Amino acid sequence: MKEFVDEMRAVAMKLHTKDQAREGEKESVDPPIATWNPSVDGYLKFLVDSKIVFDTLESIVTTALHPSYGEFKNTGLERSEQLSKDLEWFKEEGYSIPEPSKPGIVYSGYLQQLAENDPPAFICHFYNIYFAHSAGGRIIGRKVAEKILNKKQLEFYKWEGSLSQLLQSVRIKLNHVSSGWSREEKNHCLEETEKSFVYSEDIIRLILS
Ligand code: HEM
Repeated sequence: MKEFVDEMRAVAMKLHTKDQAREGEKESVDPPIATWNPSVDGYLKFLVDSKIVFDTLESIVTTALHPSYGEFKNTGLERSEQLSKDLEWFKEEGYSIPEPSKPGIVYSGYLQQLAENDPPAFICHFYNIYFAHSAGGRIIGRKVAEKILNKKQLEFYKWEGSLSQLLQSVRIKLNHVSSGWSREEKNHCLEETEKSFVYSEDIIRLILS
């Protein structure tokens, strides 16, 4: 039988553009990553806004704002600490770290509000943010590092142990939590995927700002 996380993945894959992923179905609007000319300043904005999104997710599951979120404490996918270390490194290199900007602030506020009122929608974003970072996020990180960081691999792109095993255990937890949902709640979760793309893409675009 198809597990719920397979449904979540199928919906997400279709929302990729054809140049982002093989299973993508959308036409691209932004230039493909291979042609990007990122700047360190733009990339720093992206890292700062990513950090407030991960801070928000991680504080929501740590405080288990809803009982089902407790399962997602300490999954090993957390990124907040790693991003702090990376920003510290940029500071030591002489860069000034920007304040969070609108895309990150708006997404964090939205996540906080969903977490309180709408667990299936919140879990959709939780899944998409962490899994996107493990796939497309790493592709972005590699390309940007090649172009502007002399191939330095940031902590943001390093996980302790096997990433595929960490992802697999989160898939099991997602299946477990969603097994308590009605078909309507499951559909509602799947329908939220598109918003997750819109908010995340606004943050990714900061790299080119
Ligand atoms: C998976 C690329 C943005 C959500 C993937 C995969 C690639 C990819 C290559 C792996 C496909 C496979 O398993 O064969 C990209 C690129 C992006 C991008 C290049 C942007 C430049 C996003 C965004 C989201 C997202 C904005 C949602 C917020 C996902 C999810 C998966 C995925 C949920 C499935 C991961 C898994 O099953 O392990 N992406 N993606 N991606 N992406 Fe993206």
